[in-house]
Amino acid sequence: MPSAKPALVVQSEQPFNGGPRVEALCREFVTPSELFFVRNHGPVPEIDRDSYRLAVSGMVAHPLRLSLVDLRTRFPRVRLQAALQCAGNRRREFMTIAPIPGEIPWGPEAIGNAEWSGWRLRDVLQAADLQAGAAHVVFTGLDRLERGGQTSGFGGSIPLDKAASPEVLVADEMNGVPLSAIHGFPLRVVVPGYIGARSVKWLGEISLQAHPSENYYQAHAYKIFSPHVRAETADWTRGLMLGELPVNAVICDPADGTVLHDRTIRLRGYAITGGGRRIERVDLTADGGRTWQQADLSAGNDPWTWTLFEARLSLTPGDYEICARARDSAAEMQPEDARTIWNFKGYVNNAWHRIRVRMTAD
Ligand code: MTE
Repeated sequence: MPSAKPALVVQSEQPFNGGPRVEALCREFVTPSELFFVRNHGPVPEIDRDSYRLAVSGMVAHPLRLSLVDLRTRFPRVRLQAALQCAGNRRREFMTIAPIPGEIPWGPEAIGNAEWSGWRLRDVLQAADLQAGAAHVVFTGLDRLERGGQTSGFGGSIPLDKAASPEVLVADEMNGVPLSAIHGFPLRVVVPGYIGARSVKWLGEISLQAHPSENYYQAHAYKIFSPHVRAETADWTRGLMLGELPVNAVICDPADGTVLHDRTIRLRGYAITGGGRRIERVDLTADGGRTWQQADLSAGNDPWTWTLFEARLSLTPGDYEICARARDSAAEMQPEDARTIWNFKGYVNNAWHRIRVRMTAD
């Protein structure tokens, strides 16, 4: 069977999971769709465009069943650029500290920045007329995932105040064309600034309730614990339910282990943060954090997209570890040591990003 996305480095074929080569990742501000990572927990469902209906249910005065034509005719179309980052991005670095069995060993490629188009979630919610007490918006996908003898769609939820923010979309297009099957055709949620798991693909139902989703991927997975906690000892009710992304920066080019000849190294990468904050600066060090050089940032400084950075460092011959760290508009900064934030599922690694390079004398 041909790979679902030939340009991606495949992590698993069934379900399909893969991401681009890291050096290719940040060449363009808008990630071309063929280079946009894919994270699936199960098989891609086949959905018929004509019979498809989006259900809006739960604590609403007017439950809805919306066709794609209903969405097009009832709500104003909006377009925005936003990054999606998987909570498991950069897990591979955690795996060098202690094993994380059964999880995808993502490098820093489980991220992309696309132009999304669709409708504001808040417009759809308004049409359903929310009842008092509704506090969480629950999304359920039409994929069928088996767990413990039971089958259900992938799901998750976001608090109502986030759902009512203008950047949260029910999207039918990615980079100017209808969503491909693998990215959620015909409709997905896009929750900028949150972990990718909340941007539910193949969206079947939106439901309003007083508490977060009971779906496995909200109530169990995508929670973080302290480094000493292991899966066997975890009290799942006490894990932190992930939502907003923490500040992060990654050097994409050159790749780790590159040998260089001409005394100046050009470093390019991406930075991202959550919660509507902005990337204020990205700094690079080649001497373990004694001195830092500030990188140039891409224009725009939009809170929902990624920020690309570029810097040139002059180096004499030798072996170096180059580290990047970003600071956001709340002055949040990345932790130095990944061991202090290691967690047994391997989520949200935002420690200083490190690459090793060798500068030769010739
Ligand atoms: N939605 C459904 N229905 N099923 C899934 O497996 N994976 C989630 C999210 N939405 C998933 C889903 C995760 S973990 C991520 S990171 C993003 O989709 C990835 O979106 P992408 O594959 O379009 O990059």
